Amino acid sequence: MASIGKDIQKAAELLMAGEVVAIPTETVYGLAGNAMQEAAVSKIFRIKNRPKSNPLILHVSGAECLEQYAAKIPAVAFDLADCFWPGSLTMLLTKRPSVPDLVTAGLPRVGLRVPDHGLTLELLRRLPFALAAPSANPYGYISATTATHVDAMLGARLPYILDGGPCQRGIESTIVGFDQGEVVIYRKGVITADQLTRVAGKLRYFKPQSGPVQASGMALSHYAPITPILLTADFQRLDFASLPRKVGFLSFCSAVPQVESDRQIVLSVSGDLAQAASNLYGALHRMDAMDLDLIVAQYAPAEGIGVAINDRLTRAAHPKA
Ligand code: TXA
Ligand code: MG
Repeated sequence: MASIGKDIQKAAELLMAGEVVAIPTETVYGLAGNAMQEAAVSKIFRIKNRPKSNPLILHVSGAECLEQYAAKIPAVAFDLADCFWPGSLTMLLTKRPSVPDLVTAGLPRVGLRVPDHGLTLELLRRLPFALAAPSANPYGYISATTATHVDAMLGARLPYILDGGPCQRGIESTIVGFDQGEVVIYRKGVITADQLTRVAGKLRYFKPQSGPVQASGMALSHYAPITPILLTADFQRLDFASLPRKVGFLSFCSAVPQVESDRQIVLSVSGDLAQAASNLYGALHRMDAMDLDLIVAQYAPAEGIGVAINDRLTRAAHPKA
């Protein structure tokens, strides 16, 4: 088990010494290391068993750091930074040569974001380098929204987890890139398409082609518990008799009447999408620890952040390779 605490100075000293430390953000916990030091970045890939073909996001303390790591920045990127940073938007921008190729998996762009969490912003201000940080979970598994989740999954491989409490947003950042004047959404996330449109005008979703990863959160199986997931729009349409014996039910806002309460989790009793998002990964972690044969999960309404909730549920339910 890792040491867990709120000591920013301790986290800073470990990071300065080239160690990897788990950090809180408003979306999910990150697994952070000195982005400018290849040995530290290599450790991140090793700890989460992530292929080096899958690039890492750079976390910086403010929009004034943009030009240090990115070049040819379109004006709309500055507008988006003004509007959404600190916050849950990652922008893919032409990388400067100073960013190690290991961070970007050899790709021409670097992902940048300013996380909206007091402890981590203070940590970033104290450090003379950006933090490369993927989500703090083993590759392909459920992301972490508490220090306890990180500890259970990766604690044995980490010297320190900076505990910032439960992540307020609970789902990863929205990832956008820029293509000939158009904003392209690569990963659905906390910041919705509507919010982006208000600032950037017309936008489109990236259509994955075959070939190397261009951006991810795009792997078809991702964010997944060990227990298989079946998705439904409506529990009442299920044939309960055909389900296996030990089933857990994950519903958006109303409990399933015919199921015992210890076998079900309601993401938001009031039907609040933001609350459902912040509870999603915690609920999947809890259900995965229940020794179930199957989790039946209900889609959220496909509006606002519900679009990102459904994206995560769909990938979590996808058969694993
Ligand atoms: O909310 C978040 O974004 C969290 C917190 C910790 O900041 N981070 C996160 O990182 O979700 P990760 O590594 O689990 O997912 C980021 C995705 C990766 O799947 C990666 O493929 C894509 O962003 N990505 C990062 N840098 C990229 C780049 N230069 N070009 C294309 N895709 C990139
Ligand atoms: Mg991840």
